[in-house]
Amino acid sequence: MSAPTTSSDRGGFQSRLGFILAAAGSAIGLGNIWRFPYTAGENGGGAFIALYLLCVLGLGVPVMLAELAMGRATRHNPVGAYARLGGRRWAAAGGLGVVTGFGILAFYSVVAGWTLGYLWHAVSGTFAQPIDAKTSGALFSGLISDPVWAVVLAGLFLALTMVVVRAGVGGGIETASKILMPVFFVLLLGLALRSVTLPGASKGIAFMFEADFSKIRAPVVAAAMGQAMFSLSLGMGAMITYGSYFPRHENLVVAGVSVAFFDTLIALLGGFLVFPALFAAGIEPSAGPGLVFVVMPTIFHHLPAGQLFAVAFYALLAIAALTSTISLLEVVVSYFVDERGWRRPRAVYLVGGACFLLAVPSALSQGALPALSDVLGTGQGWLDWQSVVFGTYSLILGALLTCVLVGWRWGAEAARAVVEEGGHRLPMAALWSVLVRYVCPLAVVAVLVYVIRTGASF
Ligand code: PHE
Repeated sequence: MSAPTTSSDRGGFQSRLGFILAAAGSAIGLGNIWRFPYTAGENGGGAFIALYLLCVLGLGVPVMLAELAMGRATRHNPVGAYARLGGRRWAAAGGLGVVTGFGILAFYSVVAGWTLGYLWHAVSGTFAQPIDAKTSGALFSGLISDPVWAVVLAGLFLALTMVVVRAGVGGGIETASKILMPVFFVLLLGLALRSVTLPGASKGIAFMFEADFSKIRAPVVAAAMGQAMFSLSLGMGAMITYGSYFPRHENLVVAGVSVAFFDTLIALLGGFLVFPALFAAGIEPSAGPGLVFVVMPTIFHHLPAGQLFAVAFYALLAIAALTSTISLLEVVVSYFVDERGWRRPRAVYLVGGACFLLAVPSALSQGALPALSDVLGTGQGWLDWQSVVFGTYSLILGALLTCVLVGWRWGAEAARAVVEEGGHRLPMAALWSVLVRYVCPLAVVAVLVYVIRTGASF
């Protein structure tokens, strides 16, 4: 293959550690602390967790290595990577990834904006006094249905993201990750330790791990697959893009597996943080996204140093979200830099600005503009709709396309050679090839067909 042309605005990571922190930052996000605990709680607890681990090992890790290899081989954004490896027609698969990244960023930054609003409340002492569930619910709906606040907070979050991405891959993304990720780990460990040592915490751990296998049906399998893809930032080209900045000759397998390992560990720790604290405060966990925004505020004042706990908790969420929105924006920006020859700042401003426009209906759909969901007939609200379309099904489809391209079109052998570049062996290479060529695509197709035919949702 001829050496790909690279624009001077591409840049790259300076070290393997920098890459791991940035990629782990992308993977570790609201998905781990906000989506994973409630999805697990709703869908059979320990049974869902077992299924999820299976999805991470059988689908997540193989697709992660495939995406990283695509990026490393081509040194291009998803559209360029698919086109170079599969031919012009495959560019559309990369295009789907870029559009999906844009779509996820639009709803993700709305929820991320809420974390800033809550961080503000925590700092200013709102959670230092006792708050009952009703007041907490009113506070949440007040925040998310206030058109000005909802839009301003999402815009603020996007602006923060844009500042980092504008500074480039090495100078912006890598530097920010090297500062933010250690802070994140310390906060999470501290909070989880505090939570599991509270009296009565064991009930929370039991809630998370008690397995109810009767809940495991096809839509739940789709949810587990979707959650694994979402949480590992797969299926939309984030890892293709980050892989394209991976330092040559470094060990890709170690890097990819570390990212998957940390992401899964943090999702489980997220459960250890949320559920024991809830049960210790004698509160039944409610299902749904309200968990971190409605239920958590009611427990802070029960805890020793509750205000500190609250500040740390929402700072943790905001940091987790920021390192993820950075990677979402970078996917779209890298497309315009590589394929359209735009300068990085221009790409950042235009893509970020356009994303803000798309985020507005999401921000307003939470009560400020209820009519929108009626118009769309989704009955769920624009934000939930975006979350399911972009955050679950698009990603499953994207993972399928990656498997077909890497397993069949480009070829597992050629991909393996790229993974092993620098003399780092891929352990169980034959198994990886079977997973990418047969197991992953078949599993994904089976679930998609079932869900489409039955119209089931989760
Ligand atoms: N992995 C992120 C999370 O768990 C979300 C994300 C998805 C980020 C896709 C980038 C790409 O919150």
